Amino acid sequence: MLSGRRIVLGVSGGVAAYKAAYLARRLVEVGATVRSVMTESAVHFLGAQTLAAVTGHHPVGGFWDEAEVSPHTDLGQWADAMVIAPATAATMAKLATGLSDNVLIATALATEAPLVVAPAMHTEMWENPATQRNVRTLLDDGVTIVGPLSGALAGGDSGPGRMVEPEDILTALTEVLSGSSTEASVRDMDGYAVLVTAGGTREPIDPVRYIGNRSSGKMGNAIAGEAARRGAQVSLITTAAPPSGAAIEVVRVETAQQMADATWERAGEVDFAVMAAAVADFRPRQAEDIKLRRGDGLPVIDVEPTPDILAGIAAMENRPYLVGFAAETGSMEGALRKATEKGVDLLVGNDVTRAGSGFATDTNEVTVYAPSGESDRWPLLSKREVARRLWDRILEDRKPG
Ligand code: CTP
Repeated sequence: MLSGRRIVLGVSGGVAAYKAAYLARRLVEVGATVRSVMTESAVHFLGAQTLAAVTGHHPVGGFWDEAEVSPHTDLGQWADAMVIAPATAATMAKLATGLSDNVLIATALATEAPLVVAPAMHTEMWENPATQRNVRTLLDDGVTIVGPLSGALAGGDSGPGRMVEPEDILTALTEVLSGSSTEASVRDMDGYAVLVTAGGTREPIDPVRYIGNRSSGKMGNAIAGEAARRGAQVSLITTAAPPSGAAIEVVRVETAQQMADATWERAGEVDFAVMAAAVADFRPRQAEDIKLRRGDGLPVIDVEPTPDILAGIAAMENRPYLVGFAAETGSMEGALRKATEKGVDLLVGNDVTRAGSGFATDTNEVTVYAPSGESDRWPLLSKREVARRLWDRILEDRKPG
């Protein structure tokens, strides 16, 4: 897929720039033509001569000393895809706002080719709200962000912020080049019926209060939207706003009981059920008809269990292919246990305490478990990309024979 493709490699100034040379070499090895563009600070970390030797072309390093009159538009128009690796916090901020005060950003702005960005920075910088805001903006703009991973960082620190490995970037480039594929052409779910639960349930205490959770419904929306784009007939049972622009049957519910009723009613007729909702495990035994008053003293709220929607489907005779989710905090042992004990075909676990993972974010870092306990950890990806990979994995798993 990368053979014969024209890739612009943008390198910004971080320690991970040393990996950019290896990335360039791998791209050349798989048959791509690579031209590169470096920021001024990148040159402190990686010699321009190194990239020139690996790619066969001198990297562009500025607007003024180049052979081309307009190096950024020249490169931008030439590219089949552009990748920025590593992308520092500053580069991401400039990209998110369109501040093209260096030739790398100007190239990224001047290209209509798909853009892949591989962030690399210290954990504090990655987790900073400004960086996370820029990540969201870039995702909204259609940029593919790969990583960062958690691991050893410069200066002996450890945590999220480590650039993904060059092979992951090759995969991301292959995916963006193979398609616009997800937009229109891949209809590999034609004829399938899919059920997705999404959002967090609300269990009423009184007319104004409820027991709830932080789920935003974004992961379930991405899964439902992706299945619809790929041709499936989709029912989304959700407590949250559904995705826009997708042909989906949406059933809005509020409580676990309503979600259970709507889900069980449809589960016998679908091929796949993906339980992405965060369902309350208990609810007030009795919801008060009128508001509890402060003056009446501290209430005691007696709770009872809610129906286990997933267990209901797992116990069905002709059950659909069943995917469970597990939102864990800290250790992932609970996810492994759920994968082996809940009667699912696949379980998607994530640690909601990690930056960029879990509730209300646009990204997620998940580990996918088979019932055998075998697991596959994916890097931090947009929820859309997680949804895409999840359907790829489910369809692969489901293949007859
Ligand atoms: N689930 C469900 N109905 C419930 C509770 C959970 O269908 N009443 C589904 C969720 O949608 C998810 C999976 O079950 O796909 C696991 O949910 P989770 O809350 O992580 O599991 P629990 O068994 O409640 O485990 P724990 O409370 O120990 O984390």
